[in-house]
Amino acid sequence: MPMLLLLFLLLSLVGLNDSSPPPQPVSCTNDTSDCTVTNAYGAFPDSSICHAANVAYPSTEQELVAAVAAAVAAKRKVKASTRYSHSIPKLVCPGGNDGTIISTVRLNRTVRIDAEKRLMTVESGMVVADLIGVAGKAGWSLPHTPYWYGLTIGGVLATGAHGSSLWGKGGALHEYVVGLRIVTPAPPSQGFAMVRELNAGHPDLDAAKVSLGVLGVISQVTLALQPLFKRSVTFVDRDESDLPAKVTVWGHLYEFGDIKWLPQERKVVYRKDDRVGVSSPGNGLRDSPIFRALPTSTIVAARAQAERLEKNGTDGERCEAQRQLAATDEMEAYGFTNNGVNFTGYPVVGLQHRMQASGSCIHSPEDGLQTSCTWDPRIHGLFNYNSGFSVPLSMAAAFIADVQRLRDLSPAAFCALYSSAGMYMRYVKASSAYLGKPEDAVDFDLIYFRSRTPGTPRVYADVIDEVEQIALRKYGGVPHWGKNRNSAFEGAIAKYPGAAKFLEVKNRYDPDGIFSSEWSDQVLGIKGSPSIVMKRCAIDGLCICSDDSHCAPELGYFCRPGKVYKQARVCAFEGVTTSS
Ligand SMILES: Cc1cc2nc3c(=O)[nH]c(=O)nc-3n(C[C@H](O)[C@H](O)[C@H](O)COP(=O)(O)OP(=O)(O)OC[C@H]3O[C@@H](n4cnc5c(N)ncnc54)[C@H](O)[C@@H]3O)c2cc1C
Ligand SMILES: *[C@@H]1O[C@H](CO)[C@@H](O)[C@H](O)[C@H]1NC(C)=O
Ligand SMILES: *[C@@H]1O[C@H](CO)[C@@H](O)[C@H](O)[C@H]1NC(C)=O
Ligand SMILES: *[C@@H]1O[C@H](CO)[C@@H](O)[C@H](O)[C@H]1NC(C)=O
Ligand SMILES: *[C@@H]1O[C@H](CO)[C@@H](O)[C@H](O)[C@H]1NC(C)=O
Repeated sequence: MPMLLLLFLLLSLVGLNDSSPPPQPVSCTNDTSDCTVTNAYGAFPDSSICHAANVAYPSTEQELVAAVAAAVAAKRKVKASTRYSHSIPKLVCPGGNDGTIISTVRLNRTVRIDAEKRLMTVESGMVVADLIGVAGKAGWSLPHTPYWYGLTIGGVLATGAHGSSLWGKGGALHEYVVGLRIVTPAPPSQGFAMVRELNAGHPDLDAAKVSLGVLGVISQVTLALQPLFKRSVTFVDRDESDLPAKVTVWGHLYEFGDIKWLPQERKVVYRKDDRVGVSSPGNGLRDSPIFRALPTSTIVAARAQAERLEKNGTDGERCEAQRQLAATDEMEAYGFTNNGVNFTGYPVVGLQHRMQASGSCIHSPEDGLQTSCTWDPRIHGLFNYNSGFSVPLSMAAAFIADVQRLRDLSPAAFCALYSSAGMYMRYVKASSAYLGKPEDAVDFDLIYFRSRTPGTPRVYADVIDEVEQIALRKYGGVPHWGKNRNSAFEGAIAKYPGAAKFLEVKNRYDPDGIFSSEWSDQVLGIKGSPSIVMKRCAIDGLCICSDDSHCAPELGYFCRPGKVYKQARVCAFEGVTTSS
């Protein structure tokens, strides 16, 4: 079958080195004025476009202070933007249409590495790939980062981005921050902007470590290092029968453990991943297939196949596509090689900075878009939603049991996750950061098709949306600040016991809300709601439906209770009635 061959090809192409790095998120019609800003997908959840009056590219802290001061003096709204801007929600937009964007792309240097104190200070625009590379070369490790390394330290902190661990301080990068310098507004008498230095133990660090970018622009970050170590990784397949019990213990058993679940196949892939001594033999490397550059023609064809699977594919075809993807991933050892070239068997042992994250598609020189990251908006390639939510660890078993019941009622529905071959689970610990995780949690990631035409129903959206509502509404889960569609943020801030303290710091640092936007006010519960209620809003995840018009009744989609969680409200397909 050509379709399967194609999806197979997509994931099995290795060793492509030339590619176009992702585009810059800011573009201006007139040098540095009259600008738009977007994210790495070129699309926010509500399909809107963000405008700003101008952009500044400071390359020193002094220039950063001047840029903030100029914007504050002109009473413009401000937001930092980053090299590639990978957050999905509208975090990066300055409020209104005539704000200022301060890009951190030129703030990407290592300030110092203090070997004695085991500290590393970097500028906030430094990309995670460079951060872990510089540390590794100097003989140091950062224990946890997101798995995709095309993010900046400033952006990662803003959204609480993470890897996976329940050990020590857990899997979130912000837990390893021991100090930072942030530029905030100041009264005219102090020149409109000031640098605040938050050292270890400063109470405001718990606000600034996960800030949604609303406190000011972080200039420098100091991270606690660990002596260089290696990791030993093995993937094991199991059936799902004891998954509810396993999920609560797996993160305690292995320092970097995680789990992939294919509900349709009743199969689980457990990652055993532990720290080993730096002298253990092995030069392993992770180069995740989903973060590699591929030929544009392959990506475009894969997107066309996904569109066909949505439009008129059968359950059997979608499930087969998912099986093929899972089989290819497994055969490719999820992108791990034992020596940087070939996979010869588990365990794969390698240095932390070669194993913790990947993203080779950002690295290569411009090649006129012959190859690129698969989601590069310039080629109309893959386009997916990414729901990411953390369920309290104490609730994870019950949540999974509910999803299993839903799967039993709707056996083929989970093949709608064919783009990612299942659900990913990672561990994050409770944080002292006010907007960090309120409790130890399992973070679930679901990736599924997004149409380029707003308001287009998706296959089995009712089931996938019910899973999300079970997590967020029945089990008290919280959405990842840097992922998700609007509806996931409804009521989220109420689940953070530290929210009031966060707002106190925000009001003190930025009383006029220079760094606040419509979106940040909505998610922080300051003003308005993150949901957008209109015709077909639930189809695009902009609202949770409360009326049939929020679905697409004319196409046979109606607002109905969930199958397992009756309080859920989802757009279910019931067919079109012939009588008017
Ligand atoms: C392909 C892909 C893979 C991903 N993988 C993971 C993963 O493994 N784990 C995970 O947890 N998340 C992951 N994410 C989500 C991602 O980590 C977050 O959205 C992250 O915040 C994006 O970082 P960025 O540098 O691109 O920041 P941006 O998205 O550009 O910015 C995010 C916010 O931070 C603010 N900001 C940025 N820099 C500063 C600064 N210096 N000072 C103040 N505010 C600032 C911006 O104004 C904005 O509000 C992934 C996303 C994608 C698209
Ligand atoms: C372009 O920007 C310059 C300042 O950088 C300004 O003087 C000029 O008016 C702008 N032109 C337009 C068409 O906006
Ligand atoms: C910083 O960015 C510049 C310009 O994009 C790049 O040439 C340089 O290599 C980067 N520096 C580091 C340390 O990553
Ligand atoms: C599905 O749609 C494609 C093009 O959109 C068409 O070529 C194909 O024949 C259709 N298949 C079925 C089974 O309807
Ligand atoms: C990788 O495998 C190929 C094919 O088996 C072999 O020719 C090559 O020498 C291997 N390379 C390394 C570095 O092991």
